[in-house]
Amino acid sequence: MQGMQSKIVLAAALLALAGGVNAADVKRGQKLFEECAACHTHERGAQNGVGPNLFGVVGRKAGEVDEFRYSPAMKRSGIVWSEQDLDAYIADPQAKVPANRMPFSGMPDARDRADLLAYLLSALK
Ligand code: HEC
Repeated sequence: MQGMQSKIVLAAALLALAGGVNAADVKRGQKLFEECAACHTHERGAQNGVGPNLFGVVGRKAGEVDEFRYSPAMKRSGIVWSEQDLDAYIADPQAKVPANRMPFSGMPDARDRADLLAYLLSALK
């Protein structure tokens, strides 16, 4: 029984370790956000740039930032931004919201997106 228990503890420790290695890298995400920062601010109350301010975007309806002129496609998309929606939009903006006007071709690497979103989620609180 003793041996069984220590095996379970070891398995749990290994799982935790694996989780740590795979966990999204917020620092790396911050660096990746520089690509977005050319057009987007994300601080509360900050000015819109070429793109809308992203503060509070998670859980918000697409196309709802005051004083930003969105494309009709974005306004009509009916999206309420979840992490999954954001991931898909960042991966391929035109596939997620056809005819939207974000001049960004997409971030194909899933790990890049995971890191970027981890940063964005931590910075947007
Ligand atoms: C060259 C400028 C530019 C870059 C770079 C850019 N965006 Fe955008 N973004 C826009 C524009 C313009 C819109 C509005 C699109 C529309 O109305 O169709 C937009 C819209 C968005 C929206 C929808 C916001 C809302 O209020 O519904 C999100 C989310 C977003 N961008 C995230 C990102 C992220 C994350 C990055 C970096 C990976 C990024 N954008 C890079 C210009 C840009």
